[in-house]
Amino acid sequence: MSLLLGASILEPAGPAAERVASLWPWLLWASVVAVVVVVVLMAVSMRRRGRLDGPVDSTEPRWGVGLIIIAGVAVPFVVLAATYVLSLVQMRELASGGDEAEITIEVIGRTWWWEVRYPNGATTANEIHIPAGEPVMLELTSADVIHSFWVPELQVKVDQVPGRTNELWIEAAEPGRFRGQCAEYCGLQHANMIVQVVAEEPEEFERWLDEQAAPAADPAGLAAEGRDVFMSTTCIGCHTIGGTQAQGDLGPDLTHLASRDTLAAGVMDNTAENLAQLVTDPQSVKPGMIMPPTQLTDEQTEALVAYLMELE
Ligand code: CUA
Repeated sequence: MSLLLGASILEPAGPAAERVASLWPWLLWASVVAVVVVVVLMAVSMRRRGRLDGPVDSTEPRWGVGLIIIAGVAVPFVVLAATYVLSLVQMRELASGGDEAEITIEVIGRTWWWEVRYPNGATTANEIHIPAGEPVMLELTSADVIHSFWVPELQVKVDQVPGRTNELWIEAAEPGRFRGQCAEYCGLQHANMIVQVVAEEPEEFERWLDEQAAPAADPAGLAAEGRDVFMSTTCIGCHTIGGTQAQGDLGPDLTHLASRDTLAAGVMDNTAENLAQLVTDPQSVKPGMIMPPTQLTDEQTEALVAYLMELE
């Protein structure tokens, strides 16, 4: 179940995150040693001062000017320069590692979900499928406020700024699911702006991509009634369902809604019961979201949910 996935930079799942994970112990231990040395020197100094009776003669450093130059200037310079160079080397590699990417995916941050667009026209939300073992380029932008894209097991985080496109490549070494999180405070549901990267075997990914670009299947029975409900209520104003007259673009594209793991950007599992709650009382699922409640009878809700659950 995706909502429980951990997401630690210490468990890298791809080459970019490996670099980050290999860098951090060096930075950590350099900092720890520096702090310990400084604290010990301070403690020694305070103890000595505490033992003295009269005023301290500070005109002449106790251990001479040489100590100040070595411990106060030379050593910090070497330590800071070394960590700086280490970081620069990794940053350069992180920036250039996606040159081999064969596919570019647009990821648009929106309050509070993620729109994901593929070159073949497939549009989905909150789930980014990628082929495992291959670098993939992401073009990150925002439709409203500043968000930040961060999947700790795969890459560093990059801001999503309105009117600007930032590139970030990601690669997962093995198939798996990786949790990502908006990392820039963007309003009430910032913490519930969750994205999932799904890495699959390349053939499986290709199949998924073809399916996602296809229009929605024609419903029958109860689901056909549900489609009529969808097309005659407020739903149609904000959502797109490929192959129908629903072409709204305020909310997520629902053409293949039933193929996704979660609803409302990782807030709940994608089940009929949860979907019914989301449709009829969205504010109880994600307070502040722009989706208004839909006034439906129980029969209409049942038909609508049957229709949406068929959109695989
Ligand atoms: Cu989007 Cu925080």
